[in-house]
Amino acid sequence: MHSKLADVGLTIFSQMTQLARQHGALNLSQGFPDFPAPLALKEALTKHVMADANQYAPMTGLPALREQVAALIDRCYGASVCPENEITITPGATEAIFCAIQALVHPGDEVIVLDPCYDSYEPSVRLAGGITRHVPLDEGFAPDWEAFAAAISDRTRLVIINSPHNPSGAVFTKADLDQLAALTESRGIHVLSDEVYEHLVYDGLQHHSVLAHPQLYGRAVVVSSFGKSFHVTGWKTGYLVAPPALSAEIRKVHQYVSFCAPTPLQWALVDFMQQHPEHVEELAAFYQAKRDRLCAVLADSRFSFAPAAGTYFQLVDYSAIRDDLDDVAMARWLTEEKGIATIPLSVFYQNPPEGQRWLRLCFAKTAETLDRAGELLCKI
Ligand SMILES: Cc1ncc(COP(=O)(O)O)c(C=O)c1O
Repeated sequence: MHSKLADVGLTIFSQMTQLARQHGALNLSQGFPDFPAPLALKEALTKHVMADANQYAPMTGLPALREQVAALIDRCYGASVCPENEITITPGATEAIFCAIQALVHPGDEVIVLDPCYDSYEPSVRLAGGITRHVPLDEGFAPDWEAFAAAISDRTRLVIINSPHNPSGAVFTKADLDQLAALTESRGIHVLSDEVYEHLVYDGLQHHSVLAHPQLYGRAVVVSSFGKSFHVTGWKTGYLVAPPALSAEIRKVHQYVSFCAPTPLQWALVDFMQQHPEHVEELAAFYQAKRDRLCAVLADSRFSFAPAAGTYFQLVDYSAIRDDLDDVAMARWLTEEKGIATIPLSVFYQNPPEGQRWLRLCFAKTAETLDRAGELLCKI
């Protein structure tokens, strides 16, 4: 069989989770909470399933949920988007990203991504017949705008950005968005802004959404995830926001990829967002406490790190411990020998920097899990 994605295998996230299971290791690899989803959200889902809200939803999402998203965007960024023409509910941010790429990228078009980056971008670009240009972020995981400018060509169609950033936790500044706008404007290059960790920003920092940047938003698609914001990654429910003409094109793809996101999940989110607006407001403090707990226990370890500015991931440098191992070997060793599963940073790159010794830990975990992780990591 002539594969379209010949070099694609099981993702590192599935591999590490499998390995963690095999060795009974504590799993800080894949990015998902190990604590319960909000009770009111689960009760709302049960209620809607039992009330038989179990048939197809409208292709673009329940109007009531699109209204909630528009209200949230207004509250968070002071931006006004039309629930009818600019918001589409999708089965996960991943589907939104895939559909946006299929709608925008033609065969031979180039798409710039900033490495390290989330693993779904490149295969989606390739399936659209596009070519991915990887531009590395700098050592502090900030964009290198000179390198970015050099990567732009006549064929550049789309740029994919992700802030707050998985895997580094870095957060774009307003100046970064201004730079991006200036460098892409004259060629009308589209921007796909993956903002699934939009509410997870710490230490008083602010998330600068493309939704609040009119110059960029006019040619952008912004993607977010209810899974991340409501502790329900397994619900695989997200949304995309784009100006009407762009939304219309992306909806053409979405309607044939999945048609719609699951109905009862959407109703449950409507109820919960209506009744608990404080949930999103409290999210940054909730996760900052988890980050601080992990960093406090790691302070006594031989790992070095700077506390993550955003997301629920913390990078740690292990060069003082096993500089002889590359990060994939180190992640395996830690899982098999030390009982803790992490993700090596190199898998997020096309060309990982030589000698980089970073691992990614997920801190979307209970205090008990974080303390246990600290104990294991401090022994190493
Ligand atoms: C940067 C980034 N984008 C997108 C996603 C996918 O979100 P969803 O689970 O809603 O598809 C993830 C999930 O890990 C992510 O880290």
